[in-house]
Amino acid sequence: MPRILLTGATGYIASHTWLALLAAGHQVVGVDNFANSSPVVLPRLQHLAGEVLLFERVDVCDLPALRQVFDVHAPDAVVHFAAHKAVGESVERPLDYYANNLGGLMAVCRAMHAADCRHMVFSSSATVYGVPERLPITEDAPLAATNPYGQTKLIGETLLRDLVASRASWQVATLRYFNPVGAHPSGLIGEDPRGVPNNLMPYVAQVAVGRRPFLQVFGDDYPTPDGTGVRDYIHVVDLALGHVAALARLFDAPGSFTVNLGTGRGASVLEVVRAFEAASGRPVPYRVLPRRPGDVAACWADPTLAHELLGWRARFDLARMCEDSWRWQSLNPNGFEAS
Ligand SMILES: NC(=O)c1ccc[n+]([C@@H]2O[C@H](COP(=O)([O-])OP(=O)(O)OC[C@H]3O[C@@H](n4cnc5c(N)ncnc54)[C@H](O)[C@@H]3O)[C@@H](O)[C@H]2O)c1
Repeated sequence: MPRILLTGATGYIASHTWLALLAAGHQVVGVDNFANSSPVVLPRLQHLAGEVLLFERVDVCDLPALRQVFDVHAPDAVVHFAAHKAVGESVERPLDYYANNLGGLMAVCRAMHAADCRHMVFSSSATVYGVPERLPITEDAPLAATNPYGQTKLIGETLLRDLVASRASWQVATLRYFNPVGAHPSGLIGEDPRGVPNNLMPYVAQVAVGRRPFLQVFGDDYPTPDGTGVRDYIHVVDLALGHVAALARLFDAPGSFTVNLGTGRGASVLEVVRAFEAASGRPVPYRVLPRRPGDVAACWADPTLAHELLGWRARFDLARMCEDSWRWQSLNPNGFEAS
């Protein structure tokens, strides 16, 4: 089986993908600089995988260090997750976002080029669609970034398209994730945001567990069934399996591709609140505030292409996403650091 280099390996989505790749029989080498994750993830992953994991503490912007990783481990493909991801922070610190997300991507591509490794799976985002003109969103929808984080994904996609155009040997799978939520069913790994969560589900989970007094709902006057924003939430385990399927396609068939990874169904903020209350048996009090500038009313994927190309489809529903998220939150009320 091919050997896979996972960047950002101890992060939320990559840690779940690591397990999925091992379960599919891949050899995996993880790298991370712990900019937004905890080393505690590693023994937990090792416990779940039942084998010793290969890991190097490396900043992906550090090309000489990356080259050394390629020399030692000779990966056949890279799944490139490492990036900063907070939209609000990217508006305040654009240089850090451009430097880390694009500097990291370029260094990874250079190291791959030098090592004759030409297969990459790239973490993109539904954020590249900006304000969608039509729902559900198909991959050929117009692209527009509305903040520096989104720009780094859009420019990253462009860079990779140019690379693929320069040499046919490059094969890149660009995966546009919708809203990843949930956790591994063991409750041992999950999303552990630092500070105030930017995303809805971890915020709801922290309210349910008593870490925060109430949820702030930004806007209940959107043109949606209950007035609150609608998003396409996807279980992180389904997302992880999407990466396994994308790698299989890259190795089995020539060509690069870009696909949405979403469920194709939207859920409103209040639907998520109700589903979480049902899963946890705890109340999730909320207060309605004005709309947040830059938020779109509704966004959900057309995942047809991912099914056609990869044979992949999301399986877990919102109830299951909330159950797994609650198990992770209740077993780890203060995240990894308190372990
Ligand atoms: N979570 C989401 O809502 C979402 C949605 C769409 C796309 N994405 C993308 O998916 C990828 C993973 O997201 P996540 O939610 O797992 O985030 P995360 O922050 O949990 O994981 C990212 C990991 O990358 C590491 N990292 C960052 N910069 C690094 C560097 N220079 N060198 C080495 N490691 C570095 C961090 O320490 C962290 O462990 C990111 O590229 C993100 O932009 C995430």
